[in-house]
Amino acid sequence: MKILDMRSDTVSHPTQQMRQAIFEAEVGDDGHGEDPTVNRLQQMAADMFNKEAALLACSGTMGNLLGVMTNTQPGDEVVLGSEAHILWFEVGGASAVAGTLLRALPNDEQGRIAHADLEAALRMNHTHSRNMSLLCLENTHNRCGGAAISADYTDNIANIAHKNGLKVHLDGARIFNASVALNTPVSQLADSVDTVTFCLSKGLGGPVGSVLCGSAEAIERARRLRKMIGGQLRQAGIIAAAGIVALDSMIDRMADDHKNAKRLAEGLAQIEGVSVELDKVQTNMFRFTVADNISGNVLSERLIEKGIKFGAGGSSFRVVLHWQIDASDVDYILENVRSAVKALS
Ligand SMILES: Cc1ncc(COP(=O)(O)O)c(C=O)c1O
Repeated sequence: MKILDMRSDTVSHPTQQMRQAIFEAEVGDDGHGEDPTVNRLQQMAADMFNKEAALLACSGTMGNLLGVMTNTQPGDEVVLGSEAHILWFEVGGASAVAGTLLRALPNDEQGRIAHADLEAALRMNHTHSRNMSLLCLENTHNRCGGAAISADYTDNIANIAHKNGLKVHLDGARIFNASVALNTPVSQLADSVDTVTFCLSKGLGGPVGSVLCGSAEAIERARRLRKMIGGQLRQAGIIAAAGIVALDSMIDRMADDHKNAKRLAEGLAQIEGVSVELDKVQTNMFRFTVADNISGNVLSERLIEKGIKFGAGGSSFRVVLHWQIDASDVDYILENVRSAVKALS
């Protein structure tokens, strides 16, 4: 039975082409900057984002931590949205490791901070307060259902931050989803930020790794910090080779994930007892809920028997599409959710 795992796009496996590239990868000691495949991936990423340099990190969490550490000093304050991944799901590393204070401003439903809220927070940035030195943004926004954030929004809020002496880091774990959904190059979506991280190991299908992009100076600092936190690897070309295939061949096809997400969401919305906020489905992820008379846990168990896995928690389900779920799988999923919900109603 094919397992249709939609708990996250992080569960996606490397493609055959990636496995071949890993097998054939030319490698060297990246601790000495001598891994040709890592260097090629980093150059490719820097070019795509129109930044001076880039650095391979072990994970999105490490890329974000490096983004925070590179742009701040211990004791500084970092402003970010109340639903930011850095705040919720990175084990407090920005505080525990980088020594920064996280200050959450309210997010709207798309994960955006209002300009007025940032301006109000900035008015408190004086000699007696902590030194607010960094604004963190996120695109697409994970906890806000994969919302794709426009370049205009990012430019305007980054402009306010910069005018007040703050740096801006963008958690672009899924920025290629935003790029495909908005038909805007990543270089434009990240044009006004100082550093940006993107993940190779989510919708791009790579097995491991993220890349931090920024100025040559920022990346040099990040390289030292990466060593400090134990993230410097040696023959990392093994990882980078798959990353190069991801950037070469897995971006445009994300449009299929978005199409499949939309069709799956629309199909689920037609099932009695299932609710989906269709207007929020913008990229490869969404949530649906089931009515009170249906046990979410039992539904989840029934679907797992059919090879269908959603991110489940009570009556709410998270659905994330990726390259291993195709259009015919969507039909199979809909058919099985329909019959399981009917049987449990
Ligand atoms: C928006 C966002 N940022 C960062 C990360 C961290 O990536 P990783 O789990 O690879 O460390 C994730 C992971 O899901 C994410 O969704």
